[in-house]
Amino acid sequence: MRRKLAAGNWKMNGLGADLAELERLAAAPAPAQTGRLICPPATLISRATLIAGDIAIGGQDCHAAQSGAHTGDISAEMLADCGASAVIVGHSERRADHGETDATIAAKAKAAWDEGLLAVICIGESLAQRDAGETLDLIAAQLAGSLPDNATGANTVVAYEPIWAIGTGLVPTLEQIAQAHDFIRETLTARFGGEGHAFRLLYGGSVKPDNAADIFSVANVDGALVGGASLKADDFQAIIDALDAA
Ligand code: 13P
Repeated sequence: MRRKLAAGNWKMNGLGADLAELERLAAAPAPAQTGRLICPPATLISRATLIAGDIAIGGQDCHAAQSGAHTGDISAEMLADCGASAVIVGHSERRADHGETDATIAAKAKAAWDEGLLAVICIGESLAQRDAGETLDLIAAQLAGSLPDNATGANTVVAYEPIWAIGTGLVPTLEQIAQAHDFIRETLTARFGGEGHAFRLLYGGSVKPDNAADIFSVANVDGALVGGASLKADDFQAIIDALDAA
């Protein structure tokens, strides 16, 4: 049985005052079957861990090296040191804005594991790739390149985020989500054997309170990676509730 996961990615949003939203989430009863993770900007991680209760706190990126001359970067060790237990790696915005390759992302995932962090590894196609019929090939290539060989369901979560659905209000059909998630599961079991069933697969891209229940009804969707709707406690709580009930 895979434990469901509702993950919020605040991206480059959030000042100290916004921790009130996290405080409200933490005050709600813990869902029975669903883990919760909030990834605020790095500047808020330490403060977030003090008020998060049993909501896990994660980073949005880490460097592959433990320390060194990398101005502006943050290491997995630093994230762990300030109380994070997870880190997103390979988000499409980092792939696009910072030229991250699958190899970079695999190295970051290993760095995360070395510090005991759960790696949330993101994959997903652009609209041009979907229109060209390349979605499944791209997913296969990203899984092959971004997941190191010793990935397990305990150290890694895979987030499928079609780039064209991120922040756009566009959501794939349930059939498209099912096709991608079933393919990811098959690819993981082909590579990792029975362990392939242990990885949580999150869907991400315009998940909102009003579409969450439908998305969570899809097989092999074990949760969501939520951007905009994770910034407000009421919206994210509605998504958590839909997931826990699914
Ligand atoms: P939105 O939920 O705002 O579309 O963002 C999704 C995402 O990129 C989460 O990592």
